[in-house]
Amino acid sequence: MKNLLNKVARLTLLTDSSHFDPVEVRKLISEIGIILDHDLGIKTLTPEDLLPAWITKTVQFNSNSTKEDRLEELKRTGNNVFMVKAETIVLDYLTDSGTGAQSDEQWAQIMTADERYSHSKTYEQFIPVAQEMFNKKFVLPVHQGRSAENIVFKSLLNNLVQEATKRGQKIVCTGNSYFDTTIGNVQSNEARVISADCRESENTNEYFAFKGNADVDKIRSIIKESGPENIGFIIMTVVNNTVGGQPVSLENLKAVHDTAKEHNILFLLDSARIFENAYFIQQREPGYEDLSIAEITKQMTTLADVVLMSGKKDGIVNMGGLIATNDEGLHQLFLNRCILIEGHYSYGGMSGRDLAAFTQGLKEGSRQEHLRQRINQVAEFGNACRRLGIPIQWPTGSHGVFVNARQFLPHLDKHFFPGQRLCSTIYARYGIRPVEIGLSLAGRNEAGIKNIPANDLVRFTVPRRVYSQEHINFTVKALAELFDNREKLGGLMYAKEGLGNGHFTSSFEKVLTEEIPILLPSVLKDFNTPKFTYRQDYLPPNATKL
Ligand code: F0G
Repeated sequence: MKNLLNKVARLTLLTDSSHFDPVEVRKLISEIGIILDHDLGIKTLTPEDLLPAWITKTVQFNSNSTKEDRLEELKRTGNNVFMVKAETIVLDYLTDSGTGAQSDEQWAQIMTADERYSHSKTYEQFIPVAQEMFNKKFVLPVHQGRSAENIVFKSLLNNLVQEATKRGQKIVCTGNSYFDTTIGNVQSNEARVISADCRESENTNEYFAFKGNADVDKIRSIIKESGPENIGFIIMTVVNNTVGGQPVSLENLKAVHDTAKEHNILFLLDSARIFENAYFIQQREPGYEDLSIAEITKQMTTLADVVLMSGKKDGIVNMGGLIATNDEGLHQLFLNRCILIEGHYSYGGMSGRDLAAFTQGLKEGSRQEHLRQRINQVAEFGNACRRLGIPIQWPTGSHGVFVNARQFLPHLDKHFFPGQRLCSTIYARYGIRPVEIGLSLAGRNEAGIKNIPANDLVRFTVPRRVYSQEHINFTVKALAELFDNREKLGGLMYAKEGLGNGHFTSSFEKVLTEEIPILLPSVLKDFNTPKFTYRQDYLPPNATKL
């Protein structure tokens, strides 16, 4: 700080016209910027770090909605930005899933894709690419990640849950944080998820290189308490989306894998953003700096009994996914189920053109120069927030900037949806749509009680190859203005809670800050009253007399 003050004083002196020295002024300005970044823990990025690996060849005109249009949409949807019409959105940070810009090569592959029903040329081209990339003998295409979850979890959990029920016990699945559909697909099989994130992930202000890691001791104690026979599987999600797109180290993956194997438990990898995770390993984990993304990816997937992938993220495709394994028996199980719910195993719910774009997207998404710009663009967005004192998960993760909504709106009680309120307000005022990864998304547990997550985050998810630095600058400015006027923002409460993955369909009403103490007891009562999210209550009329 003292060093900084000295430099500022010297700069002030130098910019006085009688002392003006352009070379010295320029040097000091850049040094002051770097000192500030250094004090804030920011690694200053250079234009080379941020240079896109692509140029823009096609553009789409954007929405010119007004604030009035957007307020109307919020009224119609009960303040849920998941349900507003996309044409009213100026900058959409809802997700990086299926929203990336396709390359000219992908469009070329789309045009020449083979649409024949089974074993199309497109399928035959896809399989060796995925086999090689993930180092697995058997690969099954599926139309998206949750469909892979559905197929794999039903196959793995069905008998296990039945046996455990006979013993009066419950099957538990663990690992780092599961994505919301991943939890849903475990719960809909009558099993439960206990996530075991590393302690460092909870403190958003503290730097830790691999905040996506699992807490291996906690996993060990979950295995011990539940009994190894009652563990369904262990999944590691790379990157760990829920805690802020944070990477997992190979050291941690190996430790979790070894723990699983010690107890004969299946080890699964949710690899939606595996290349982005591999990039962080290459940049941050000692011993991996000279390995390519392909080599690191293989080291990760080789550990897994089953790899599940949503292709809509790192596969840079609008629709796609896969399941990969070396176990022929498991592959057959998955394949049979795939035929029932996705279609023939050689297209897995995708048209030939999806599959062709996915094959090409896997190659592009794993390119070093793509990942360099991708990760650095998101990092620079996070750096800009940090320079302004906006509280975010630090360091910035792979696919978005995650604002800590409880710290952004400290006057709001955590039960009044600070994250959701931030989402609807920034949408109304600026046409920017982020997504809440907090109280609303956390849903209810298998006993029907509301989950209260460790943090209430608002994710500004950056689509791949879509937004320029100017788009990001506008977003940072909007965030800064909201931050400066934050005391005026009240909270939200459920008008109607959507069950299941309820954040998609819940509606909310606004609550003034001064109303919160009066409303709190009834909100807590509602949260603690069991409501079952995935239980099938319906009985057809012919069964009601049973
Ligand atoms: N696993 C992870 C880690 C995810 O982030 C997602 C989706 C899925 C599985 C499910 O894949 O959407 O293809 O069915 N995440 C998106 C998101 C929707 O916005 O984070 P899917």
